Amino acid sequence: MVGSTEKRAAGCETKTQLRILVLGAALRKDSLNVRLARLAAQVATSQSAIARLAAMTEFDCPPYDQDVELTTGIPEGAKAFCRSLKESDAFIIASPEYNASLPGYLKNSIDWVSRFRPQPFNGKQAFLLSASPAMGGGNRGLWSLRVPLEHLGARVYPDMFSLAQAHEAFSADGRIANGMLQQRFEDTIRCFMDLVEAAKHYPGLKKQWIEFLGERPDPVVDRIETSDVEAEPTAA
Ligand SMILES: Cc1cc2nc3c(=O)[nH]c(=O)nc-3n(C[C@H](O)[C@H](O)[C@H](O)COP(=O)(O)O)c2cc1C
Repeated sequence: MVGSTEKRAAGCETKTQLRILVLGAALRKDSLNVRLARLAAQVATSQSAIARLAAMTEFDCPPYDQDVELTTGIPEGAKAFCRSLKESDAFIIASPEYNASLPGYLKNSIDWVSRFRPQPFNGKQAFLLSASPAMGGGNRGLWSLRVPLEHLGARVYPDMFSLAQAHEAFSADGRIANGMLQQRFEDTIRCFMDLVEAAKHYPGLKKQWIEFLGERPDPVVDRIETSDVEAEPTAA
């Protein structure tokens, strides 16, 4: 008899077409991060994914204000971000680094999206990119971007790609001029997509989301979503 694990493993032999949301998280016209996002979308597409390249202007929101949420409701930008996440198996964000952190407008949109239930970041696989003219490539900003995303239950890929001296790193065709670096970029996206594929086939990788794990359970204040997780067998 074939067990459920064997059946799932067998399912992995047939790859499904993955849907990846790729967000160039910058507002300015000549953004280096948008260029990197565009390249990531091209690479994902060349590896058989359906990549949707989104602009930050689609998801931009007024500053979060709970009074506005209660009176006017959640803004269109957050609704579009939420919808795009729900339609995707995974997401990639290319974000600038502002003062060693993530840009305020990006955190603001994440805060708005965190108000939806079901909360769409939960359980989503994520890969983070940055580009900066500086030698660090904006990498410090990605460490701070990880914090709200992981808090919201996103599965943020351990490797991150930060393009240093990005103002002179691209060739005219939009690829990374250094061939070895371009190859490394492509390989890392392929590895990320393998993980996304695995997560699709193995429901056991799904997880519940509890905002403050370890707090005394209290239905009045708990922010918890367990619907995706098979119940643990209870002791007789
Ligand atoms: C307010 C502000 C703060 C910045 N802080 C940093 C920083 O901490 N580290 C860094 O590498 N670049 C920093 N930069 C430079 C950006 O990396 C650079 O402008 C980059 O091109 C922005 O990304 P974009 O091209 O996608 O818009 C900062 C730029 C601005 C406007």
